[in-house]
Amino acid sequence: MRKSFYITTPIYYVNDVPHIGHAYTTIAADIVARYKRLTGYDVFFLTGTDEHGHKVEKSAEAFNERPIDLANRVVKRFQDLWIRLTISNNDFIRTTDEGHKQAVQSLFKKALDNGDIYLGYYEDWYCTPCETFWTQNQLHEGKCPDCGREVEKLKEESYFFRMSKYQNDLLTHIRNHPEFIQPESRRNEIISFIKEGLRDLSVSRTSFHWGVPVPGNDRHIVYVWIDALINYISGAGYLNDPDKFARYWPADLHLIGKDILRHHTIYWPTFLMSVSVPLFKKTFAHGWWTNEGKKMSKSLGNFIEPVKLIDDYGVDQVRYFLMREVPFGLDADFSHKAMVNRINSDLANDLGNLFNRSLVMTSKYFEGTVPARGQGNNRLMDIQEKTFIQVENAFNELAFQKALIAIWELVSAVNKYIDETAPFTLAKDEGKKGELSMVIYNILDALRVITLFVFPFMPATAEKMWDGLGIKEKITQQDLSQKYRWGDLPPGAELKKIPPLFPRIL
Ligand code: ME8
Ligand code: MG
Repeated sequence: MRKSFYITTPIYYVNDVPHIGHAYTTIAADIVARYKRLTGYDVFFLTGTDEHGHKVEKSAEAFNERPIDLANRVVKRFQDLWIRLTISNNDFIRTTDEGHKQAVQSLFKKALDNGDIYLGYYEDWYCTPCETFWTQNQLHEGKCPDCGREVEKLKEESYFFRMSKYQNDLLTHIRNHPEFIQPESRRNEIISFIKEGLRDLSVSRTSFHWGVPVPGNDRHIVYVWIDALINYISGAGYLNDPDKFARYWPADLHLIGKDILRHHTIYWPTFLMSVSVPLFKKTFAHGWWTNEGKKMSKSLGNFIEPVKLIDDYGVDQVRYFLMREVPFGLDADFSHKAMVNRINSDLANDLGNLFNRSLVMTSKYFEGTVPARGQGNNRLMDIQEKTFIQVENAFNELAFQKALIAIWELVSAVNKYIDETAPFTLAKDEGKKGELSMVIYNILDALRVITLFVFPFMPATAEKMWDGLGIKEKITQQDLSQKYRWGDLPPGAELKKIPPLFPRIL
């Protein structure tokens, strides 16, 4: 049986329309999912929407509609965007799905029954936009330490989850599993936070109604974060598909932004411990995008709209830029100038021209058919092998930028190979036909390997390149870990004319 790989994105709130930040996480997850499939894994890739809670209820009120109508409207925006961004998720979970709600109730009940959830009173500062309670000490100049907005004092009857009980087990787990929280800096941040002491977590609300009722006491709604986190197991068949659950859980990777690190590395694992479900293997928190130096916010109205970017630059260009521009994990600033530079230099010049001139040479010298494999030493072979190792290592660290740099070193190496072997000169000498054939073959075969490397990042472009190289078998049926070596391109295949891969942006 193939090894499985389960990857998730956060489920996004439906009170916001999707913007570049949501696209960023989802594209990154898609790239990992595609890479894993390409290297032989049985992948389950889950994304979805977080539809309950005070925030959504308030937004719906403001629009004068029912929360479910708001959710139905906005969920479509997310789903449409994922289609446009060629996201290859295997499923899409909504927390309003009946099956999910049942899983939430069943797990909440399990923790009630084992005594880890109890009824008490809660009084503290609450930030509604973040759906988070803060202690006096945690406030920043009286405001929410995360988003800087106003907080309000809330006192209500509440169920509590005995999170404090799991403090030591959690610390031990984090210490014994260095990969559990990544990057390293985030791991250290969480370790210090836990060491300050965990309080029990308030896990129900009575001040509004839009959510999953607490089993046996429906004046209470399950805290939206408990509801939301459970999607990762309910969406993998926890309650009603034991075979699927056994196949995919524990998740290999929860990909998130740094804003929701604590929820994923403290609330979630301690809750899983309480209900006796094994912990996920890794969570990785990436950095934050700003827009031309400014934080994106509703009040500034400066959210970057993915659909607009796609219309202006193209899907694969956007996917490439987001992964190439900054190391995954660090904060990033979006600028149109940087985007245009990347497209023109890396994509149009380096990759696009290489591809185009290689096809043109083949059509000139060999009537557009892949020539015979030559004998003899091939400088590109070693580089191809080295690139595969670099890409594989980079993916293991989620270092997308490193992977792309390694791939582009291969692109440069092929460009250099063309300059050094000078097919144009070889072609003038009838006696050098054999050498010319070898050189062109090596170039085309390297392009085949580059196409496989490019596929997770820019799937549509890779399909075009594949087509251009005249390969009939689908990329998705190729196992990259077997196909990066020299010599797999079948001689005699007919290349196809394709339009330029990346139009230059003026
Ligand atoms: O927090 N830069 O949903 P959410 C980078 N429903 N990433 C960004 C970003 C930015 N400026 N803005 C948003 C929630 N993101 C909960 C999650 S999960 C069980 C529940 C991305 O709609 C990033 O992945 O506020 C961040 O973690 C997520 O969107 C927050 O999405
Ligand atoms: Mg948020």
